[in-house]
Amino acid sequence: MPSSCNDDHDETEGGDVAGYNRRAWDRQVDQGNRWTVPVDTQRIAAARRGDWSIVLTPERAVPRTWFPSLANRRVLGLACGGGQQAAILAAAGAHVTVLDNSPRQLEQDQAVARREGLEITTVLGDMRDLSQFDDRSFDVVVNPCSVSFVPNVSVVFREVARVLEDQGVFMGGFINPAWFVFDEAGKEQGRLEVRHVLPYADRSHLSRDEIAKILTAEEPLIFSHSLEELLTGQMRVGLSIVDFYEDRPSGEIISRYMPSYFATLATKTDR
Ligand SMILES: C[S@@+](CC[C@H](N)C(=O)[O-])C[C@H]1O[C@@H](n2cnc3c(N)ncnc32)[C@H](O)[C@@H]1O
Repeated sequence: MPSSCNDDHDETEGGDVAGYNRRAWDRQVDQGNRWTVPVDTQRIAAARRGDWSIVLTPERAVPRTWFPSLANRRVLGLACGGGQQAAILAAAGAHVTVLDNSPRQLEQDQAVARREGLEITTVLGDMRDLSQFDDRSFDVVVNPCSVSFVPNVSVVFREVARVLEDQGVFMGGFINPAWFVFDEAGKEQGRLEVRHVLPYADRSHLSRDEIAKILTAEEPLIFSHSLEELLTGQMRVGLSIVDFYEDRPSGEIISRYMPSYFATLATKTDR
């Protein structure tokens, strides 16, 4: 099982992104980041009754029409630890496997599974290397906003297409690349300051002091991807996009001007 995965970008940027982000996401769990907090018993009970929804982006629920009937479907929650989507989908009847790079995030899924008597298989790994899974192992792959934690997204889509059953579905949440144009500190202070040339990466775009602050705090490193990489990138590997929506999370300054997240539904088709 890889603890890191080298690709061209990793080598050119001289670092082990997955190894670093593993520690960073473990730390996010300790700090109570909202994407690491397991769902409560009420949501699991409702899901068992057929009343459920999940998100792939901060706020807008995935349309239920995107899902096939979940009974006995093989679902892969890709970079989906945290005791949220996987637990709900398992309670709704699916056979769920979660692959995530953070042991602590996977512990959150295991904790909900124990608490609720659910079966969830957890696998530690890098979303760019799904070699632990055979071809066509899953009917559905669910990938909440997380490709921004790896430099190269094409390898993720290639692996998703490989592990999906023919006609299987891939649903992913993504950050609109425009989000990365603006200075992060400014966004946090409620102003939009155009600063970065895309594609963005913390390591190449921030000052020494700024990057030192991130590394000292062990916050995850992020990367932007172009719309072409995120959309055409899926279609190039046989994932045909059939639906799309945008999310405009409340409380984010950028939402005054544009939706900053989107989600796609794709079907694996013959190529
Ligand atoms: C924003 S969280 C997504 C999960 C969360 N349950 C949600 O609803 O959004 C991002 C997740 O991506 C995982 N991650 C980051 N880099 C990864 C990689 N290279 N491979 C697999 N998972 C990764 C993190 O450990 C974290 O659990």
